[in-house]
Amino acid sequence: MKAAQLSAIGPAEKTVQCIDIPDPGAPGPGEVLVDVVACSINPADILSIEGNYASKPTPPCPLGIEGAGTVAAVGEGVTHLKVGDKVMSLVRTNWVQRIRDKAQAFVRLPPEVDLAQAAMLKVNVATAHLMLTSYENLKPGDWVIQNAANSGVGVDLIRLARASGVRTVNVVRRAELIDELKQMGADVVVVDGPDLAQRVGEATGGAQIRLGIDAVAGAAVGRLAQCLAEGGTVVNYGLMSGEPVQIDAFHFVFRDLHLVGFWLAKVMRTMTFEEIQAMYAKLAERLVDGTIHVVVEASYPLTQVAEALAHAKRESRGGKVQLRPNA
Ligand SMILES: NC(=O)c1ccc[n+]([C@@H]2O[C@H](COP(=O)([O-])OP(=O)(O)OC[C@H]3O[C@@H](n4cnc5c(N)ncnc54)[C@H](OP(=O)(O)O)[C@@H]3O)[C@@H](O)[C@H]2O)c1
Repeated sequence: MKAAQLSAIGPAEKTVQCIDIPDPGAPGPGEVLVDVVACSINPADILSIEGNYASKPTPPCPLGIEGAGTVAAVGEGVTHLKVGDKVMSLVRTNWVQRIRDKAQAFVRLPPEVDLAQAAMLKVNVATAHLMLTSYENLKPGDWVIQNAANSGVGVDLIRLARASGVRTVNVVRRAELIDELKQMGADVVVVDGPDLAQRVGEATGGAQIRLGIDAVAGAAVGRLAQCLAEGGTVVNYGLMSGEPVQIDAFHFVFRDLHLVGFWLAKVMRTMTFEEIQAMYAKLAERLVDGTIHVVVEASYPLTQVAEALAHAKRESRGGKVQLRPNA
């Protein structure tokens, strides 16, 4: 069968190849075999391949943080899955045609779910959900502000906030995204700039915004912090600018802002399998009822993994890039 393999740390489009590996064979006791249908390429995959993530892979090695597929076979003693079930994988080696692993490495999804959307559930939807609900007790009518608002996480956050009545201020770096995000349910969309806080104040009628969600770091997070009310929380979860977080100490000393980091992998290590299953079951309902939907800009077979990675690295994309291992 075919699989993506990292041959060396370096530019993703040059260091990942599609190779042939032995089929994983029939599942043993407590295991399942899954045909992988769709995998999203996330910034974290690229950071990891290029040696800029929390942990460095040791090549040659398999890849792929997310994937969704269908159960092809179940081993003895497996009770929560059966052949034909749609599943989301919890393993981090998804860019492959088939995965054989313990049954608890897979979360069952509703039969109606679109597996291309489900392949974006594990990382981005859970990240948006947890950041929205873990730091400030936001009630309907309250506001949250985020940057990189057109990203996968950003779009999920807009839609989840809308569904719970929380209003969103969305910072982007391209004016052409304004109408698109508003149609998705964004309340305010603004293009980033030095006068961001003033324009946000005008657009929200001086709303007290207690939660700021930052994927960019650098000077952008400083501008986001300026938009927050005294005592508010900045959650930094991404490093798209590649620069250090830059927030004026004024906001911590005199305005009591809080800065916290969010990393889904770390949060999930604190959860039991039952808690993980329950969280994704609720979020999967949001995929099925259409609350959550992220555009897929392009899909590639595993044999074109290098082209897919080059595409995923482009800025100003119109959506996610995915792999379809069994297409
Ligand atoms: N901490 C966690 O647990 C966790 C979990 C999930 C995701 N993340 C992080 O969340 C971020 C978004 O992930 P995603 O999958 O949603 O991304 P995505 O869909 O691939 O979108 C990337 C976004 O980043 C923006 N961007 C790229 N370079 C930028 C720059 N230099 N300055 C400002 N914006 C820039 C893009 O804007 P344009 O469209 O204008 O190019 C786009 O909005 C990434 O940093 C990712 O690593 C973290």
